Amino acid sequence: MIIKKFRKICGLVAIAGLSAITTFPAMSATDAEIEANIDRLLSQMTLDEKVGQLNQLSGTGYSDGMIRDIRAGKIGSILNEVDAETVNKLQREAMENTRLHIPIIFSRDVIHGFKTIFPIPIGQAATWRPEMVEQGSRISAREASSVGVRWTFSPMVDIARDARWGRVAEGYGEDPYLTSVMGVAAVRGYQGDDLSQPGTMAACTKHFCGYGASEGGRDYNTTWLPRPLLRDVYLPPFEACAKAGSATFMCSFNDINGVPSSANKFLFRDVLRGEWGWNGMVVSDWNSIGEMINHGVAADKHDAADLAAHAGIDMDMQAYCYIDELKQLVSDGKVSIEIVDEMVRNVLRLKYRLGLFDHPYVDTTLPSQMYLPESLEAALHTAEESAVLLTNNGVLPLGDKKVKVLLTGPMADAHHDQNGTWSFDMEKDKTITPLDAFKKTFGKNLTYVPGLTYSRQKDLSGVDAAVEAAAKADVIIFLAGEEAVLSGEAHCRADISLPGAQTEMLRRLKATGKPIVTVVMAGRPITLPEESKLSDAIIFMFHPGTMGGPALANILTGKVNPSGHLPISFPRMVGQVPIYYSVKNTGRPTTEMMLIDEIPHEAGQTSTGCTTFWLDAGLDPLYCFGYGLSYTTFEYSAPRLSAEEMTTDGEVTVSCDVTNTGKVEGADVAQLYVRDVVASLARPIKQLKGFEKITLAPGETRTVTFTLPASMLSFYDLDDKSVIEPGDFQIWVDNSSACRGKAATLRVVEK
Ligand code: NOJ
Repeated sequence: MIIKKFRKICGLVAIAGLSAITTFPAMSATDAEIEANIDRLLSQMTLDEKVGQLNQLSGTGYSDGMIRDIRAGKIGSILNEVDAETVNKLQREAMENTRLHIPIIFSRDVIHGFKTIFPIPIGQAATWRPEMVEQGSRISAREASSVGVRWTFSPMVDIARDARWGRVAEGYGEDPYLTSVMGVAAVRGYQGDDLSQPGTMAACTKHFCGYGASEGGRDYNTTWLPRPLLRDVYLPPFEACAKAGSATFMCSFNDINGVPSSANKFLFRDVLRGEWGWNGMVVSDWNSIGEMINHGVAADKHDAADLAAHAGIDMDMQAYCYIDELKQLVSDGKVSIEIVDEMVRNVLRLKYRLGLFDHPYVDTTLPSQMYLPESLEAALHTAEESAVLLTNNGVLPLGDKKVKVLLTGPMADAHHDQNGTWSFDMEKDKTITPLDAFKKTFGKNLTYVPGLTYSRQKDLSGVDAAVEAAAKADVIIFLAGEEAVLSGEAHCRADISLPGAQTEMLRRLKATGKPIVTVVMAGRPITLPEESKLSDAIIFMFHPGTMGGPALANILTGKVNPSGHLPISFPRMVGQVPIYYSVKNTGRPTTEMMLIDEIPHEAGQTSTGCTTFWLDAGLDPLYCFGYGLSYTTFEYSAPRLSAEEMTTDGEVTVSCDVTNTGKVEGADVAQLYVRDVVASLARPIKQLKGFEKITLAPGETRTVTFTLPASMLSFYDLDDKSVIEPGDFQIWVDNSSACRGKAATLRVVEK
């Protein structure tokens, strides 16, 4: 139902997008022409002009300072300027009042929408639909570029396995494969087929690298990453985005094994440019070059600029290290002019690729690109498919709209907060909350009593009114969660339960005896052990954006069957983090557990069994990676292989029959997992290698088929070499990482 409709809408967006924006004639310069243009420019540029191109500053409007710096050739890029008239005026300064007429590139954090806000990236990952991520990014590019923003700092493809880290909101979860697929989709969406066309933005794959491994889930913190972990888990999404043509990369704030990313030659020169053959432009993170002084690897800005230039960071965001120090470094012979020329070349190449030399200005006469009906429709469907049904004892769907609904809780009418982190440009009055939507859906049968007005509120005095109203309702819809400001950059939490008095409010609602549907809108996994018992159903929506309200209404009534699956594990309690499905077996895997309340008093030391689990949390998360329920049920056959054996350069296909065994149409995510049984290094017990979301009518069976090339079974050894080792591999296809069915065995042999 909904899925087919989405495809139709996607088509519409593509066509409408092109006609509304108008295209430039197909005259994009060839690579050779671009390089020749750069050579010509470089030969005319003074060292000051070169260094100016490497400087990125945050906008201050059409201010005297900006005008002065642009005219002096000291600015290559401006971030955070989103007014089209101002952008044009600043650009005119660069084009008309500088010697070489080099355009400025304007950038912005357009992370999950510009005006039309889509679910936060982790929510987009929960759709398991790369086509939705691509479409959302395309719409973001269309909206943002219409005011002159041609460069976004997205996608973030940092693997995140620690839900305390606030930036878990901005990425695609814990798994390298899923993150790679979604990252590539975002790059394609932003950039389209031809970056020089209007309506596109350069993508910026970030943060290179390892940022998600911050110790303790605390932002900006240290990371320790042995090479095999870096290579197998953290680098693959970056490689995928580089190979998909991501025009730019951003470094990260953290150090890896003591080397801050801004000084990491290995990452930028050896891996990104050397091994992957990428020729885009690298920008630092905000002041990350200067922060190497705090890291304690640079004595001063001079030193920091020296390290960053040698590492291959082309543009300095807001640290004033290059603009203030690079010239001196060149005259002292510490940084060669060849290095500077290469950096400038990378910046100019980006500007040529974007067609900025030919079309530097925003066409302010075009109709508005914001909130187009098809954009809102795409945001709605993405929000619907990102919602994950975690539990349901049959209370959902509500079906009959005549049911008397009490809507309560701090996220029920949170115009600001349901948009989540990084939604600088959203407009509150354009956001449709559950309250706004339910008024239409349930009409007179809706009662709204907030109970708590914001998520951290501890004062329970408003809850009595909600409890009282519950007496007259058939069902309670409790909108819980986290405010936007509790996740995202620099917003980490050591306790990831529902903040404030929300759980206590839920207890009081439960005491009414009325069925409760808890809906959680948050920026990260939330621990819900008690809430899952108190609720008759739980729907989890990572901050869903502009259309969150209607999306929820459609799901509650059953107009839309939920189909989101988790892109990250949900721990029972915070002490389990980092927790992820792709763990090693260890030498002492757990089959049976004796939990804390079962241990007899004065039991012997070894009586609980000496295996790997927590006495108070067991072994598993509350909800595992890949998990998500539907209003229907699905059955998976045992996987079938096209051959039982393949060579180390071969390929097999894996097939599985999926049947909708329930009474309504629904979509499920078939997931392919593998395990290398015996290898020279201990390997994870499961690794995702493919997925497909399919929609099935009641009773329908469909065969899903995955291609599994031997190259997908490779891993990095201790010598930093990628190897495919012969031996047995177990293969599962299931709708979560629990992999309940029997595995097929594939034998890999030397070619
Ligand atoms: C710092 C953040 O780490 C990065 O993700 C963002 O793109 C820049 N600031 C620019 O705002």
